[in-house]
Amino acid sequence: VVSLNIQFGHIGVPVIIGTGPGFEQAADKAIRALDPDRVLVLADATVAQLYAADVQRFAALGRLPGVVHVAPAGEACKTLSNVEDVAETFMTGGATKQSLVLVFGGGATMNLGGLTAALMYRGLRLCHVPTTLMAQNDVVPSMKTAVNLCGRKNNFGTFHPATLNVIDTRYLHSLPVDELRSGMGELVKNALILGGEHAALVERIPASVGDLLGDEARLAEMVETGIRAKLPALAADAQEATTGMIFEYGHTVGHALELAYAPGTLPHGLAICWGMRCCSFIASRLGLMPPAERQRHDALIGILLSEDLPRPLPSLSDVMFRVMRDSKRGRVGEAADEVSCVLLTGVGRPIPTPSMLSKFPASLVSEWLREQGFRD
Ligand SMILES: NC(=O)c1ccc[n+]([C@@H]2O[C@H](COP(=O)([O-])OP(=O)(O)OC[C@H]3O[C@@H](n4cnc5c(N)ncnc54)[C@H](O)[C@@H]3O)[C@@H](O)[C@H]2O)c1
Repeated sequence: VVSLNIQFGHIGVPVIIGTGPGFEQAADKAIRALDPDRVLVLADATVAQLYAADVQRFAALGRLPGVVHVAPAGEACKTLSNVEDVAETFMTGGATKQSLVLVFGGGATMNLGGLTAALMYRGLRLCHVPTTLMAQNDVVPSMKTAVNLCGRKNNFGTFHPATLNVIDTRYLHSLPVDELRSGMGELVKNALILGGEHAALVERIPASVGDLLGDEARLAEMVETGIRAKLPALAADAQEATTGMIFEYGHTVGHALELAYAPGTLPHGLAICWGMRCCSFIASRLGLMPPAERQRHDALIGILLSEDLPRPLPSLSDVMFRVMRDSKRGRVGEAADEVSCVLLTGVGRPIPTPSMLSKFPASLVSEWLREQGFRD
């Protein structure tokens, strides 16, 4: 069992990582030690079906019988009406201020469950049991919770730290390969913004990503390295608003692409990889990133992302409409024809601004989209 502590400013959150019967016993003990009257389990529909016995196991860890709510699988669960549905199941099931919300699923379920836990009784304790590589390495080290509103990503939420994170790499075995690659997208992002050991980790990703599925040690290393990447920034900037903003690299265009496709077509982490490619195009067009640096930057992305964007492409105007309504908008006073994102001068070299965001003409994004084949 690997134990870590994530420090969000003055708030410390424990994480345990491992797998196997001994790990499960340790995890159950850690959850029982929180002494919840009831465990309120929120499970992703696919995960609830694949791991029905674990849902029951978690629900039985309180002093009283637990409550289970199964939410729609993946991104579709991130709606305000689902917050209400989950809260209603939990409230009518006997939730009190001593209850523990346990989220069993990927990042989408964690975002829904985190927001619901933050709002119930103005803040219930929260335990995450993440089941995707993305959720394990990138959502665990974050206090952000949110659902999507008015066609925008993550624009309705708050910050709510978990009380405990239990990461069992066994759950990754059932992940579709594209979702495994999606989780590696955030590791590629860490490689690009931080360089060093994070770039070395990505350079060791095998051409056939699915080969990693049986390799517990490598998966655990990826999870741990991904979490460690964010620790210094989170200690200083728990809400990821200034120095921690670097982890939004590639997200302005990435989120727009993810939402412009039909749900599930372009997984989050792969969308971010495309967004980071757009950023290197923009940085080089602005004369900020020299050609050799852009080549190294894009080669690191190429380790994970060798294929074209899924066809048919959404319309250029739909993607641009979403780019212009990005949730970071307004922080750096963009003009009507500008957008902002983190930009780099090279691998491991973000451009330092007070918010870590740089603004630039939106026409550069359209130009890049046209290069990829997008049309009105
Ligand atoms: N800081 C943050 O809060 C933060 C950081 C990164 C991403 N996110 C959010 O996380 C979401 C993406 O999370 P994700 O990549 O975990 O995807 P996800 O939660 O949407 O799950 C992806 C798919 O995998 C399925 N699935 C989950 N676990 C499985 C398993 N063990 N076996 C088989 N199938 C499984 C789900 O049913 C779903 O269909 C996005 O909404 C993104 O905005 C939030």
